[in-house]
Amino acid sequence: MIAADTVPVNAPTPETNLLNLLIVEDERTVRECCRDVARSLGFSTFLSETRDEASRILESANIDVVLLDLRLPNGSGVEILREIRRRRPEAVTIVMTGFATVQSAVQAMKLGAYDYITKPFNFEELRMELERVTSHLKLTAENRLLREQLRSQQGFGQLVGHAPEMEKLYRIIAKAAHSTHPVLILGESGTGKELVARSIHFAGPNKDKPFIPVDCGSLVPTLIESELFGYVRGAFTGAVRSKEGLLATAEGGTLFLDEVGELPIDLQAKLLRAIQEREIRPVGGTRAMPINVRILAATNRDLDAAVSQGTFRRDLYFRLNVLTLRIPPLRERKSDIPLLLGTFLDKINRSTAMQHTVGDDALRLMLNYDWPGNVRELENCIERACTTCSLPTIHVTDLPSQVRDFQAQAAAPEPVDGPAAITPLDELEKQAILHAIQVLDGDKLEAARRLGIGKTTLYRKLKEYGTAV
Ligand SMILES: Nc1ncnc2c1ncn2[C@@H]1O[C@H](COP(=O)(O)OP(=O)(O)OP(=O)(O)O)[C@@H](O)[C@H]1O
Ligand SMILES: [Mg+2]
Repeated sequence: MIAADTVPVNAPTPETNLLNLLIVEDERTVRECCRDVARSLGFSTFLSETRDEASRILESANIDVVLLDLRLPNGSGVEILREIRRRRPEAVTIVMTGFATVQSAVQAMKLGAYDYITKPFNFEELRMELERVTSHLKLTAENRLLREQLRSQQGFGQLVGHAPEMEKLYRIIAKAAHSTHPVLILGESGTGKELVARSIHFAGPNKDKPFIPVDCGSLVPTLIESELFGYVRGAFTGAVRSKEGLLATAEGGTLFLDEVGELPIDLQAKLLRAIQEREIRPVGGTRAMPINVRILAATNRDLDAAVSQGTFRRDLYFRLNVLTLRIPPLRERKSDIPLLLGTFLDKINRSTAMQHTVGDDALRLMLNYDWPGNVRELENCIERACTTCSLPTIHVTDLPSQVRDFQAQAAAPEPVDGPAAITPLDELEKQAILHAIQVLDGDKLEAARRLGIGKTTLYRKLKEYGTAV
């Protein structure tokens, strides 16, 4: 079992660069010097003295950068370089070489090494070299993201949305996809936490390996342990044959722990041990089995509060929380609503004879509504409207009652008295305009005429309210 020499054990810090670095060097002092410099730049480091060790690490960990001593005792540096090319073609290799062997460094570059550094080097030289590599990798990740975006003009993978918060999220997903650290995905219900977890997995190098989601909230607490870790024959009554756990099924890929906040506290300790030691012990078994699985977790609960209340282990929280992704609720990115609606409508229209569209009045209400159930609620809303509406255009009356009631509440504020009852003129004007458009069934030209204002003014006002469509 190969463990990272440094595994981040704390909440995200600006120092963590999410990259794994392998040092292959037989001289202890050089190895440790490299490790210290790399750690100070936020790399997780893996150390090896021999070719065999290096091979095992390359096989089991997602190595991003290799610092390789070309002159290992049995002359195997070049062999390792070939192996890196085969196993981790995206990894960046820097060869370390003595002055007398610059010639072979040049040969190494021909074999795909990114750069070489001549021994003896000092801390500063190595630091500069590694910083250069980090920016190179960052640029590559960004280019990859751009390519990904070009492929899907609407967002990232299956995620739809162009709001600045989403663009930021895509950038982090692209980076997270190429690291092996756990990621904690936070967001209200229906914001797309599972979709984000899938995007991280499928944008990464292990996309062909399994993605296994586990809903910690819906599993019977007494069964979670055997589900996750598996069991051996005879472990308990009814265990007539041994069964592989989900952590083993996800080998080489990703285990997505959905609703991780629901995990019973005794299992939290077992999960932490499995993540830290990268091995599992099936229920009733005596032998530990090595695992190589990426852990992603999601919750809509406030885990900070759960930690303070003692219902969630602080150490597991820190371990899962190496990188946190926060998905914004839909009400904070309403500009994405038309795009999301378009995507859902396209999908529905592909499977039905009637080609539905959304009328101005319905769209306006949808842009005003707060969507407490987020994207899932929007998707359900449009699906239901398409099923119930017998005409091609969906109007306010076709929308579910919670959305229509929202409009009624907005139109009829609670009666209040005294100074609080004074409504600013701007607000009265807005109410008058929106009301006119609504009662005229979305006819803006007629609304402008009846309100006694020009149509340009009306459009400008609607834009100010964020309801221009
Ligand atoms: N950005 C998005 N683009 C397109 N579809 C989305 C997006 N976000 C969510 N969805 C859709 O909304 C639905 C809910 O998404 P998902 O299950 O990932 O949310 P969740 O955050 O895991 O919800 P819950 O907390 O209830 O489990 C899915 O059908 C998903 O396809
Ligand atoms: Mg979910």
